[in-house]
Amino acid sequence: MTAEQIQQGIAAHAPWFYRFEFAGGLETTSLLPPAVVDIFETRLRMVNSAVDAHFGARLPEVRCLDIGCHEGFYSLAMARKGVRGVVGVDAREENLRRARFVADAQGVAGIEYREGRVESLAAGLAASHPGQTFDLTLFLGVLYHVEDPMRCLRQVAAVTGEMCVIETQVVDEVDGFAEWGSREWTRPYAGIIAVIDETPEFDTGIRETGVSPMATCPSPKALRYMLKQAGFARVEMITPPPGAYEQHARGKRVVCAAYKDANKAASGQAAK
Ligand SMILES: C[S@@+](CC[C@H](N)C(=O)[O-])C[C@H]1O[C@@H](n2cnc3c(N)ncnc32)[C@H](O)[C@@H]1O
Repeated sequence: MTAEQIQQGIAAHAPWFYRFEFAGGLETTSLLPPAVVDIFETRLRMVNSAVDAHFGARLPEVRCLDIGCHEGFYSLAMARKGVRGVVGVDAREENLRRARFVADAQGVAGIEYREGRVESLAAGLAASHPGQTFDLTLFLGVLYHVEDPMRCLRQVAAVTGEMCVIETQVVDEVDGFAEWGSREWTRPYAGIIAVIDETPEFDTGIRETGVSPMATCPSPKALRYMLKQAGFARVEMITPPPGAYEQHARGKRVVCAAYKDANKAASGQAAK
């Protein structure tokens, strides 16, 4: 693409959610306030640390699925990092149009963008990628936008071959007991799921919401519990790096790595 074509594309696809850089000093401007833009870099550092620790030198063999890929920020990062291929899926074609433009304009190959919903991910991919699971799946910034988190996590687990990196907002833990059939019989909470109304954002066409106005947000314990129920054998929380985005630093957003195989140690070697 020529500089003029890139410039025209940047203007035609505005507004942008992410800051992307192109040859010749061209760039997109993120619609987020400058202090919030740091979130993307922190998330990427945390994703990279989990991916490097697990796959190590196997990275060139890794097939990656980026679920809720938006404009492709993390799909591009994984392609650049040297994975074998990336499939980016998003519910919104308007986000995918931007993602395709950025990949073309930056000259990054090996990414396929497809429209699809996490709620029906396995069936959607069965048509285009029959019998395939993805060694690495990314589920970043999406879980807290969906109304049926357990259904979505089961779908994510079904298409994950080895490891999924999940990033989500979390609500504060609430410990307690529910009565379960009589005053004497109780069950401890295994975590909390908050119901969040995203109607204002949904009705005004904000491109980051889920596919319905109802969102849910788990507590850390609920997240861990749901991941196990969905079919992940092991879940590890990733420690935020020094200088992390304030929400990650305060534990209000978390990044975790969920593994299908309990016996896989770092770099994919079988645990001794
Ligand atoms: C907050 S953005 C996060 C984007 C990116 N993964 C990141 O971490 O920066 C949420 C993205 O998920 C997409 N999305 C929301 N609900 C979805 C669903 N049910 N299925 C697939 N994509 C969805 C939105 O269109 C949007 O692109």
